[in-house]
Amino acid sequence: MSMKDKVAELNRKFRNTPPEEILLWFITDFGDKVAFSTSLGAEDQVITQMFARIKKPIKIFTLDTGRLFQETYDLLDLTQKKYGLTIEVYFPETVNVEKMVRSKGINLFYESIENRQQCCHIRKIEPLKRALAGKEVWITGMRKEQSVTRSYADLISWDPANEVIKVNPLIRWSVEQVWEYINTWNIPVNDLHAKGYPSIGCSPCTRAVKPEEDLRSGRWWWELPEFKECGLHKTH
Ligand code: ADX
Ligand code: SF4
Repeated sequence: MSMKDKVAELNRKFRNTPPEEILLWFITDFGDKVAFSTSLGAEDQVITQMFARIKKPIKIFTLDTGRLFQETYDLLDLTQKKYGLTIEVYFPETVNVEKMVRSKGINLFYESIENRQQCCHIRKIEPLKRALAGKEVWITGMRKEQSVTRSYADLISWDPANEVIKVNPLIRWSVEQVWEYINTWNIPVNDLHAKGYPSIGCSPCTRAVKPEEDLRSGRWWWELPEFKECGLHKTH
């Protein structure tokens, strides 16, 4: 069966399956070939809680770009302690960061989309590749509702860049469902959410939003909505 057919079959199979059952199925079928990327965002904290309930070993990792908020580091620490698990931290290659910053400046991302994408590439995309090396399944906390760029995303897809099956178990969840789950299980979340930050990435590229604004409008706020992806998620 081709990968395209396999992915289509999996999407059909899990169309109405709750996220926790989907996670269990992939861990049971793919074992240590599964990896979950967490940015410590609200959705990722939901998935971490689900894995804690499933109680099977799984690789959980985060990409530390070197420009994250202190609140995110605090939550990383707290989450590891609460659940007694290790979140593997991946850093960008030092030499590449030094070269980029020396030639284009420390805040290069504000100057052009090209600069911003270069920074995201060095600080996120390359470390992601290393984190997923040897894995077959990549779990993320992406949701359709998050932005225009994600409205095309599927529950399950093939990621050609990293050659893994990508699974977004919360893809169809609403923001209300995410917060209901967080409140039910008393899950620790980033302090910044209560200060107007629904979506949190790097500190120089994330700002607070007003209640009526889109969830991701505070990310790379100086760019148009259709460009607001760092390249981790190519959805169409
Ligand atoms: S981003 O591409 O714009 O930064 P977003 O913050 O919405 O992504 O997160 C979507 C999903 O991408 C998260 O649920 C997580 O799986 C993954 N992700 C994003 N940033 C990171 C990170 N720094 N470390 C690990 N995973 C991340
Ligand atoms: Fe660089 Fe901003 Fe991308 Fe973070 S979000 S990697 S600081 S451009």
